[in-house]
Amino acid sequence: MKRIIVAIDGYSSCGKSTVAKALARHAGYTYVDTGAMYRAVALWAIEHQATEPEQIIPRLEEIHVSFLQTEDGQHTCLNGRDVEKEIRQLEVGNAASQISQIKEVRQYLVAQQQAMGKEKGIVMDGRDIGTVVFPKAELKLFLTASPEVRAQRRYDELKEKGQTPNYEDVLRDVNERDYRDTHRDESPLRQAEDAIVVDNSHLTREEQMEVIYDLFDRHK
Ligand code: DC
Repeated sequence: MKRIIVAIDGYSSCGKSTVAKALARHAGYTYVDTGAMYRAVALWAIEHQATEPEQIIPRLEEIHVSFLQTEDGQHTCLNGRDVEKEIRQLEVGNAASQISQIKEVRQYLVAQQQAMGKEKGIVMDGRDIGTVVFPKAELKLFLTASPEVRAQRRYDELKEKGQTPNYEDVLRDVNERDYRDTHRDESPLRQAEDAIVVDNSHLTREEQMEVIYDLFDRHK
């Protein structure tokens, strides 16, 4: 059976990883969370107090990111250590947003991402997958939802975690991240010309997956 590459890009908090994981399961493909790779490099930088690009770039070869399949899903490892929990912290997400602007960091991780797709049969999500990592991917999806809907989802998630967020603050954060992601010099987030846009603002999870499974089944 033909195996393809599925590239999923889109704004933060629009459910890319949920979609990518579900589609990988549906297809029997490998899922690669590229955001986790940037987060792992950011964690290394925090732990080594390497705040400047000059402190990170010469030591990139010391940073090995891998994925471990466990009973409760895929865990990200940094130099063999399971860091799945740590990399999801807000502080690491903010640092990832900074280090992902460094050209050499991107080149280092993009080369690894391209190697992972050599055998195809992969679903990869991020910001530059359909434009830079796999410009020839057979299926490119660009997920989107309105900033208000994404802010509400994040607000609900934070509340569920026992935090007391302020909706206006969360919305401001969403808008700021969108701005940074789309305006950075290196590989800014943009829709590939041949990407299919899925706006999930008003779709349930089931409705969205139905649309996506159908697109996949028609492309494979
Ligand atoms: O998707 P995420 O929140 O886990 O991503 C963490 C950071 O990494 C985010 O600021 C955007 C950046 N990123 C990127 O620049 N390119 C990718 N392919 C994936 C993530």
